[in-house]
Amino acid sequence: MEVARGLEGVLFTETRMCFIDGETGKLYYYGIPIQELAEKSSFEETTFLLLHGRLPRRQELEEFSAALARRRALPAHLLESFKRYPLSAHPMSFLRTAVSELGMLDPTEGDISREALYEKGLDLIAKFATIVAANKRLKEGKEPIPPREDLSHAANFLYMANGVEPSPEQARLMDAALILHAEHGFNASTFTAIAAFSTQTDLYSAITAAVASLKGPRHGGANEAVMKMIQEIGSPERAREWVREKLAKKERIMGMGHRVYKTVDPRAGVLERLARLVAEKHGHSKEYQILKIVEEEAGKVLNPKGIYPNVDFYSGVVYSDLGFSLEFFTPIFAVARIVGWVGHILEYQELDNRLLRPDAKYIGELDVPYVPLEARE
Ligand code: ACO
Repeated sequence: MEVARGLEGVLFTETRMCFIDGETGKLYYYGIPIQELAEKSSFEETTFLLLHGRLPRRQELEEFSAALARRRALPAHLLESFKRYPLSAHPMSFLRTAVSELGMLDPTEGDISREALYEKGLDLIAKFATIVAANKRLKEGKEPIPPREDLSHAANFLYMANGVEPSPEQARLMDAALILHAEHGFNASTFTAIAAFSTQTDLYSAITAAVASLKGPRHGGANEAVMKMIQEIGSPERAREWVREKLAKKERIMGMGHRVYKTVDPRAGVLERLARLVAEKHGHSKEYQILKIVEEEAGKVLNPKGIYPNVDFYSGVVYSDLGFSLEFFTPIFAVARIVGWVGHILEYQELDNRLLRPDAKYIGELDVPYVPLEARE
């Protein structure tokens, strides 16, 4: 049997949630092109789609949005614990620990019936934004702001994070960014969630594992790495030389390349337009210009190899404009991707529900003699 390194090309289950055509750069949630959702849908509506497999009717959407809004507040015990979490911790570590603690606080933590999974999933989707916003406030030396039920998920997230109600334009930017990041097939974090859940562990454990996986710089952590790259480059004038040096040293340009897309990631296309809007309106043009030059210069070498900007390349510019420092970029990704994790867990339970247990080709020796400790050299 051939070894499928990185599990590339291995089909381990079926799904209706997401289809990615990596050759032509297309992405669909339940068959609907991502560009349409980013332009016309809301986070709440897209979440309904990803959990139910269809768009909601008007009343269903109202009830669903209200159900999410009711679940936003965090238990007092968790808010108390936050005061004892180290302030220096990375926000992804803060989120990972908070999800795990929410599990301990749930007396029915281990219930993985479909109804329980759906309810607990909604709870986590609603609470992720509150946890991340609370962490931002605490890091700034301020008190967390309780959620409001009268705002949309995106607007309330910005309100809790920044302490002021966002403009409709800011709320729309956040909404679009959340939609774009909500789901993406069996990426490393979703696969981690499914691998954990396939043991019949509880939802909190599976989601904690997924958060841990998303933290890595080859996955969700790449958006933070892109902002560090912009800071390191410093000015548009230095960008071309910086890229040439980096590639000459065989180092990676963060935010470029994707295991599935061999052309431009369609989400990067939408985010590029949003980043351009932000640059034109709010004066983040330096960051945007640096990215455009990096894309062009790195593209000369990398495009022929099928390496183009991915979703993380332009997202940081948008998040900065919305008031977030770079260490919060990956947590924002998590605030969106929790939807995909929960949706896939529900779907996997229904369609497959088999323990994941891949194998490796053994390349070691056999019948190696056991040498007693005192006889070892
Ligand atoms: N910059 C420079 N070279 C690159 C890059 C890059 N960003 N990405 C891939 N390459 C090169 C590799 O060095 C390698 O070259 P070689 O064949 O000469 O050794 C070749 O392309 C193939 O690289 P792999 O890592 O084997 O390809 P893979 O399909 O595993 O890459 C990955 C996917 C890990 C995302 C990679 O492109 C990368 O590290 N990109 C930067 C990090 C990043 O942006 N991650 C976010 C991904 S999207 C997401 O998770 C939301």
